[in-house]
Amino acid sequence: MLHASPNTFGHSFKVTTFGESHGRAGGAVLDGVKPGLPFDLKAIQLELDRRRPGQSDMASKREERDKVQVLSGIFEGRTTGSPIALIVFNEDQRPGDYQAIKDIFRPGHADMTYSRKYGLRDHLGGGRASGRETLARVAAGAWAKQQLAPLGVAIRSFNREIGGVRCEALDWGFVEKNPLKSCDPNAFPAQREAVEAAMANKDSVGAISEIHISGLPIGLGDPVFSKLDAMLAYACMSIGGVKGVEFGSGFQAARMRGSQHNDPILPSGFSSNNSGGVLGGISNGDVFIVRLAIKPTSSIGAAQKTIDADGVATEIEISGRHDPCIAPRLLPVAEAMCAIAIYDAWLAQQDLAPQSIPSVEDYDWDSIVRVLFNNQLGDKP
Ligand SMILES: Cc1cc2nc3c(=O)[nH]c(=O)nc-3n(C[C@H](O)[C@H](O)[C@H](O)COP(=O)(O)O)c2cc1C
Repeated sequence: MLHASPNTFGHSFKVTTFGESHGRAGGAVLDGVKPGLPFDLKAIQLELDRRRPGQSDMASKREERDKVQVLSGIFEGRTTGSPIALIVFNEDQRPGDYQAIKDIFRPGHADMTYSRKYGLRDHLGGGRASGRETLARVAAGAWAKQQLAPLGVAIRSFNREIGGVRCEALDWGFVEKNPLKSCDPNAFPAQREAVEAAMANKDSVGAISEIHISGLPIGLGDPVFSKLDAMLAYACMSIGGVKGVEFGSGFQAARMRGSQHNDPILPSGFSSNNSGGVLGGISNGDVFIVRLAIKPTSSIGAAQKTIDADGVATEIEISGRHDPCIAPRLLPVAEAMCAIAIYDAWLAQQDLAPQSIPSVEDYDWDSIVRVLFNNQLGDKP
C-alpha cells in the first residue's frame, strides 16, 4: 500500500512541501495552525537567507534569491486558522546545466533509485530529491520557531566536525562569523584547509552537525511510536545527505558504563546530559542535543564510474556550482525540521494535558524578535 502522505510531516501541525529543483516554484502548506496568531514574514525570510547558496567562497555561486510570499491563511497580519501556503519562485533556473547528465546516473545522488522506482525522472538539478526542496522546510520551520520562541524554546546549531577535523571548544559567538559554521576558532583553520584541499582535488568533505534545543519543558513526546527522539530522528533523516542521527552521548554510550552514562538527578536538575534531553521518548527538561552525520557532497568534479539509463558503463565528471561541504547550508534545514517536530509535539501535549504546558497563544512579541535575532547572531538566548 502507498504511504498515505510521503510529502507531509507531522500530526497536530502538518507541513506539506511541494516543488522540484528547477520547477517554477517550491513551497510549503502549513496546516493545524491556530487562528489569531501574529505572522512575521520577515523572520521567515531571514531563515531562508541563511539557507541560500552563494554566500561564501566555500559555497556554490548560484544566484537564488528565494523571496518568500504568502498565498493564503493570513488576514491583516494574523493567522486565520486555514492552511498557510508559502511559496518561493525559482529565479535561477538553468536547465542547460543538466543536459549532459540527462541519461546518466550521478553516484551518490537519487538519480538511479528515482528512475527505477517511478519509471521516469526529473533530471534537472535532482528534481524532488534536490537540496532545493529544503527551502520549503526552512520556511515552515521558521513559522514553528516563531511559535516556540515566546515559549522560551530556542533552536540553534553549528558544525562540530568538518572534513574529519573536530571542534573541541564550543564558541557560540564564532558560529555565525565563519562560513563553515564551525564552533571552534582553533579548529577552523584546519577545517578550512580540509575543505580547500578537497576543492583543489575536485572532491568534497562530510561533517557532523549539532543542534541544541533549549527551553523545552518536561513532557514533550508521545511514547511509544511518537517518542520525541524518534520523531526528531525521522524529521532529520528525511533531509538529503544526512546519514546518521544521535542524541546526547549517542554512539559513545556504547563505550560507557551505566555509572558514567546515567545522568545524576539533583533537586536543581541533571548534573550531566548524556541522555541528550530525553528519557523514555519524553523531554526531561534538559537541553535537547541532536547530532547529524552529513555525507560529503555527492556532486564532485573528479571522474567517477557509473552507468547510463540503459545500464551501460560510463564515467562522469560533474561540472557546475556545488558546495564542497553541504553542512553549513544544511544547518537551517535541520533547525527547521527540529522546530516542526517540536512544535508538533507541543501541540499534542496541549491536547493531552493542557495545564502541563504553556499555551502557544501566550505571546510576548518582544521576546520573539529577541530570541530570533539572537539566534541569528549565535548568542546564548
Ligand atoms: C540544503 C541542502 C543542499 C544540498 N546541496 C547539494 C549540492 O549542492 N550537491 C549535492 O551533491 N548534494 C546536495 N545535497 C544533498 C543531496 O540532496 C542528497 O545527497 C541527495 O538527494 C541524495 O540523498 P541522500 O544523500 O539522502 O541519499 C544538499 C542537501 C541539502 C539538505
